[in-house]
Amino acid sequence: MPNDDLKVVSIITRKGGAAKTTLTRALVSAAMSQGKRCLVFDADPQQALARWANKLQIDDPLFRIEALTMVNELTEKVEEAYENDTADFIFIDTLGAAGAWADDLAVESDAIVVPMMLSDDDLEITTDTFNWYVGLRDRAEDPEALPSFHVVLANVPAKQSKAELAIEEKAVAQFPVMDDYFMHRKQHKDASSEGFIHHIAESRRSGPGHLRVQARHFDEAIEEASSILASLMEAT
Ligand SMILES: Nc1ncnc2c1ncn2[C@@H]1O[C@H](COP(=O)(O)OP(=O)(O)OP(=O)(O)O)[C@@H](O)[C@H]1O
Ligand SMILES: [Mg+2]
Repeated sequence: MPNDDLKVVSIITRKGGAAKTTLTRALVSAAMSQGKRCLVFDADPQQALARWANKLQIDDPLFRIEALTMVNELTEKVEEAYENDTADFIFIDTLGAAGAWADDLAVESDAIVVPMMLSDDDLEITTDTFNWYVGLRDRAEDPEALPSFHVVLANVPAKQSKAELAIEEKAVAQFPVMDDYFMHRKQHKDASSEGFIHHIAESRRSGPGHLRVQARHFDEAIEEASSILASLMEAT
């Protein structure tokens, strides 16, 4: 039976180092923590996420990752997952640059999420990324069929500086910004060296007492990512 509930989420921004891979990993972790089967395509030639999964030998029946070298292979791969019901979510991590590939990827997606850190460079390049999406809608025969577009403010410190607040204000005035933040958290650094956040939470919980108290921080990171994912799904 085909899986009519399959959702395709693409993590895109023309800005390098904007938190794409970190956000992808957190969203996948959130979906897996709800028992959802995740198929991840790493479309960044650097293969940061695929390398991470291989290096840490991530082994979970809910998780598969594949390199996506040719975006034109995506249609077939999405179709296959849909027809054979092999996944609940497809997440696509991408490279931080503009390219014609982004159009092909967008048409296969249900939602586009654009992480943006609170810097002037990020604001400028996020504006470019939004303009690309606006252009895509203008060119499309059926703009309603295109995915929704959401900027998520990323790596946000617990206390924002005046300059950061000003950048946030400009962002909100220019393009659709989600209410949820992707906060700066040490747990995302731990994930990059240890594994999925929800896996770390479980291992801390079953560990000695002084580690057990840490589990809560990983749970909070998962709750945040789950909330971002839920907001994205509401818009599809
Ligand atoms: N929420 C967060 N909390 C803590 N650190 C973060 C967070 N988001 C991103 N970072 C850090 O910011 C840096 C850039 O993040 P990341 O590698 O995810 O960006 P990217 O957009 O995938 O970069 P690239 O364009 O190179 O693929 C990394 O060191 C990452 O650990
Ligand atoms: Mg990356």
